[in-house]
Amino acid sequence: MDSNNLFINLTDISFSYPGSPNVLEGLDLRFSRNEKIGLMGPNGCGKTTLFHIIMGLLKPLSGKIEIFGKTAKEEKDFIDVRRKIGLLFQDADDQLFSPTVLEDVAFGPLNLGKSKDEAIDIARKTLDFLGLSGFEDRFTYKLSGGEKRLVSLATVLAMEPEILLLDEPTTGLDEKTKTKIKKALSELDLSYILISHEFDLLSEITDSIYTMDKGKIIFDEKVHLHEHLHAHPHGSYRHEHE
Ligand SMILES: Nc1ncnc2c1ncn2[C@@H]1O[C@H](COP(=O)(O)OP(=O)(O)O)[C@@H](O)[C@H]1O
Ligand SMILES: [Mg+2]
Repeated sequence: MDSNNLFINLTDISFSYPGSPNVLEGLDLRFSRNEKIGLMGPNGCGKTTLFHIIMGLLKPLSGKIEIFGKTAKEEKDFIDVRRKIGLLFQDADDQLFSPTVLEDVAFGPLNLGKSKDEAIDIARKTLDFLGLSGFEDRFTYKLSGGEKRLVSLATVLAMEPEILLLDEPTTGLDEKTKTKIKKALSELDLSYILISHEFDLLSEITDSIYTMDKGKIIFDEKVHLHEHLHAHPHGSYRHEHE
């Protein structure tokens, strides 16, 4: 693999929250351009923690983080990481902080140095892409769970990231909102890691699924997709993927 295409390279990462046993222990991850990976694992196994380590929101106790070919260790190294990797938080309330939807979605582009007009233009286009035209002046704190999730995704996409880290993007959402998110992700030409408990979602929009156990990502249990027969929740017929 061309090293320019190796986007994320984690080696032997361990991490614990203060006073607790290690959540991550000897974790390795290699993630390359154009990959779409699903990540599964029981609640509390450290999936969210792993995303926060990649973004530099938590610092590992040991191990090496290389992102886009550069070692990321100190806070300053993660400034560039956060420009290029968009994290959709597990809880939308951690993502949204501006009073209105348009302000929230324009915040990222503004922060990246775009002019106010450019930022608003990007925000409107992103909202339109996600079927959220008309939501510009809505108060974020009054939105429904599904709307908050879509607006959160808009705030991330508006920053035009190279990689998306999606932490349970469809958990607790109705089918219509799930379909919108799935459609948006499949239309985008982006590399992503998608944490979910929903095997059907992962099998539709990721190329491979990894599981996490005992603080590590299990590679030898990588599931090869599109070899199985199954019925979709709303599909009355059984079918085989190509
Ligand atoms: N801020 C925190 N302080 C202490 N322990 C935490 C904190 N966040 C998560 N944990 C614990 O770390 C473990 C892994 O959590 P998390 O990464 O959120 O798991 P997952 O996303 O796989 O459900 C859990 O046991 C959780 O209770
Ligand atoms: Mg989690």
